[in-house]
Amino acid sequence: MNIDGKAWRTVWLEPGGRSIGVIDQTRLPHQFETRSLSTVEQAAEAIATMVVRGAPLIGVTGAYGLMLALQADPSDGALAVAFEQLNATRPTAINLRWALERVRDRVAPLPETERAAVAREEAAAIAEEDVAMCEAIGAHGLKILQGLALARPAERQGQPLNVLTHCNAGWLATVDWGTALAPIYKAHRAGLAVHVWVDETRPRNQGASLTAFELGKEGVPHTVIVDNAGGHLMQHGQVDVVIVGTDRTTRRGDVCNKIGTYLKALAAHDNGVPFYVALPASTIDWTLADGVAEIPIEARSAAEVTSIQGRVAAEAVTVQLTPDGSAGFNPAFDVTPARLVTGLITERGVAPASEAGLRTLYA
Ligand code: MRU
Repeated sequence: MNIDGKAWRTVWLEPGGRSIGVIDQTRLPHQFETRSLSTVEQAAEAIATMVVRGAPLIGVTGAYGLMLALQADPSDGALAVAFEQLNATRPTAINLRWALERVRDRVAPLPETERAAVAREEAAAIAEEDVAMCEAIGAHGLKILQGLALARPAERQGQPLNVLTHCNAGWLATVDWGTALAPIYKAHRAGLAVHVWVDETRPRNQGASLTAFELGKEGVPHTVIVDNAGGHLMQHGQVDVVIVGTDRTTRRGDVCNKIGTYLKALAAHDNGVPFYVALPASTIDWTLADGVAEIPIEARSAAEVTSIQGRVAAEAVTVQLTPDGSAGFNPAFDVTPARLVTGLITERGVAPASEAGLRTLYA
């Protein structure tokens, strides 16, 4: 997608093929900087510190991380250590383990001399597939938005369709296009008027910093709201549809996403607002059924709750919010039960959030 008229992806192989480039998302929206990662340690650190984040993107970065490890040492032992090192960085998003297993299983049977090159090939394939899946999610989601726009009463025809989203499930969370934001980009490019309510998404504010940044760069009208405003807007008819992403979806259609998603789903349910979740196949964990009971929820540093990042003049700053001595607790994700999900927008089409629904698309 575009930044100041130039097309970018979030991760790329650098010339020579021995390192990768990424956009440093911890610096956005105030500074646009890229980083070069040339070791598995650097890749693991970039994922853990959220230089790169978003389920599909950490999967692709993890895949390239294995390539970087194998370039340094292609032995079985090094492969196993790198796999564990990368997999331990962020426990909730299933895309990471999925991508690591895919690269490991492809290279493990090969002679050591071939492993790094084949890992590069596999990581690049995962990245390209991610772009294709996200674009297809956009096309399927566009039909939903077009249908909702047409179904509105006569007096609201022609007004922008109001979409609420939580966290950042845009192109910055993937390689390109995004998941929840892909239908919005498709709609905007197709001339359908859309306006996005962007939840700020405390504690790390991925909505206020990343979603607002990328929507702005693509020229999509949007308004940032505090996380607590969504229910009020829904009660007053100002939200036509909610679309969010997911870090892990169970085979029964329970959806794990950024903390606060569940509360938006409850408010949407209470107000009859459709609540869609957009995801590529790589986000489905077929081994799990009950998301609340079974999905591991990452707990991040309490400092993300007790302080906040922003900008003063040109300088990026972190300021303390809470009294000295107050404890903070920071579960990073929550689970929205399938019964609150109107539909799952996948690269293969839209399915009911249930095992039977998913099986119609993924036999
Ligand atoms: O902690 P983050 O920023 O990695 O969390 C990201 C999200 O929760 C996204 O909504 C999710 O990964 C889906 S992204 C396409």
